[in-house]
Amino acid sequence: MTTPQVSIRELCVDYITDAGDVRAVNKVSFDIGKGEIFGLAGESGCGKSTVAFSLMRLHKPPAFITGGEVLFDGHGDLLKKTDAEMSAFRWSEMSMVFQSAMNALNPVLTLEEQFCDVIMRHTGFTRQQAISRAQGLLEIVDIHPSRLRDYPHQFSGGMRQRLVIAIALALNPKMIIMDEPTTALDVVVQREILQKIYALKQEFGFSILFITHDLSLMVEFSDRIGIMYSGELVEVAPSREILTTPYHPYTEGLGRSFPPLTGPKTRLAGIPGNPLNLLEIPQGCRFQARCTKTHDACFKQATQLCEIETGRFSNCHLFTQTQRAGSR
Ligand SMILES: Nc1ncnc2c1ncn2[C@@H]1O[C@H](COP(=O)(O)OP(=O)(O)O)[C@@H](O)[C@H]1O
Ligand SMILES: [Mg+2]
Repeated sequence: MTTPQVSIRELCVDYITDAGDVRAVNKVSFDIGKGEIFGLAGESGCGKSTVAFSLMRLHKPPAFITGGEVLFDGHGDLLKKTDAEMSAFRWSEMSMVFQSAMNALNPVLTLEEQFCDVIMRHTGFTRQQAISRAQGLLEIVDIHPSRLRDYPHQFSGGMRQRLVIAIALALNPKMIIMDEPTTALDVVVQREILQKIYALKQEFGFSILFITHDLSLMVEFSDRIGIMYSGELVEVAPSREILTTPYHPYTEGLGRSFPPLTGPKTRLAGIPGNPLNLLEIPQGCRFQARCTKTHDACFKQATQLCEIETGRFSNCHLFTQTQRAGSR
């Protein structure tokens, strides 16, 4: 990995509700390098979006960040910034393409209004300068600049998604969070958009936190991947290694749940059982009830993400205990 653009350290996020307090993100730590695409994967409800919103400080009650640090290169800990400092930081340094972003555009405003609003709020640009920047942004995502006068409903789903990406790029951010950016689109358009994002990243050099539940897509487009299970990061590895030599039984199970991109058709096995109810966290490993490789420690000892070998992290006792024994 290159120099970190962002280092997330022991991030904890709780949802404080009448039904009880839920720790949706528990001590999650990872780095995203400059110009790197870091993928975050895991079943629905494992905490991916909660991490994303917390990094942008866009989480809303009942979600509360209860611990950790988000160290952004040149800015220190984002969690210590005031709201005003964070408003200035957001979109200009780090922007986000939300899940179901196609609905993120305001239906009653032209694109010109929406682009100029973002650009003028964060820069000293005059309206004319902002329009010119907006026209350039449309060209970047292959949409004719004359369409700035149009309303969102005049565009196809794929084009609307590209417009949202153009807004995220408006202020040349150093990092873009993309939370399921293409989930609502058909497979062909999905691939086109991801290829566009990849080309833009190569050109402008920003980092990407790429969130999706589609592991095959993620392996193709990410440099490294982190796997979350029930609020915890259970494995981090280079994407070319994560499915071939997984260091966590959950990753292994996820790999069996997706069809391989190449090779013969195989029967998909999946992972039996359901994700954990976060109101009932067991002692020991969170994956114990669905794991086929448990031993004593898995029911007693809490897990912790450890570097098993250079660049390979896992929190599974199978690997962390061998490593500890070996290093003694
Ligand atoms: N508004 C909410 N109130 C209470 N708990 C919530 C709320 N939103 C999310 N959660 C909890 O946070 C967990 C993680 O949610 P989320 O980050 O949206 O997961 P993902 O993006 O991986 O599907 C959920 O399983 C749920 O327990
Ligand atoms: Mg989500």
